[in-house]
Amino acid sequence: MMKNKNNLAIFASGRGSNFEALVQEIKKGKINVAKCVLFTDKKDSLVRQRAKKYGVKDIFIDPVRFKDKKEFDQEVIDTLDKEKIKVIALAGYMRILSPFFVKYFENKILNIHPSLLPSFAGNNAIEDAFNYGAKVTGVTIHFVSEEVDQGPIIAQRPVGIKDKMSLEDLRKKIHETEHKLYPQILKLFLENKIKLEGRHVKIT
Ligand code: GRF
Repeated sequence: MMKNKNNLAIFASGRGSNFEALVQEIKKGKINVAKCVLFTDKKDSLVRQRAKKYGVKDIFIDPVRFKDKKEFDQEVIDTLDKEKIKVIALAGYMRILSPFFVKYFENKILNIHPSLLPSFAGNNAIEDAFNYGAKVTGVTIHFVSEEVDQGPIIAQRPVGIKDKMSLEDLRKKIHETEHKLYPQILKLFLENKIKLEGRHVKIT
């Protein structure tokens, strides 16, 4: 019997394939979530259509309505509070969270990144690894800290870059790996099986 179910917000700005991978497992009852909402900063994002398809509440807040990033992030916090959200999974959310936001949800925000951090941080990780000629790249899931792409690493999966692979082949392989890994890790996190000790993360 799973108890203490959490309310989860998935943050996404674009395509939403990771959102969908997470929601599919939640809908199957495999992840310990009482309520799941989508939060997005992009009005016309594909992820909103996916939310609709799965009947997931979709919260859109338009950043242009706010004087600055701080006001926007405060509004997001207030909205999440109303929804009683306790855990956030970033899945292609293209905005950097303010330090006070990260502090408010300290160690409750996970992110997925399409490389083996600390290699190839930033917005273009798959292409950067490919163009660099790396032989191995992969996927990282980490806690979000104030410094972008630098939070404690929870899990990593390598993806080999074979000589015959195109950039598109690599993208496909990375996304397949993401879609398996993120639900597994989120599940463990929500079952309190992921413990943070300094920068070190232990899965119990
Ligand atoms: C993923 O590659 C994820 O690692 C990165 O943004 C991408 C989002 O893809 N943070 P999608 O919107 O989930 O399809």
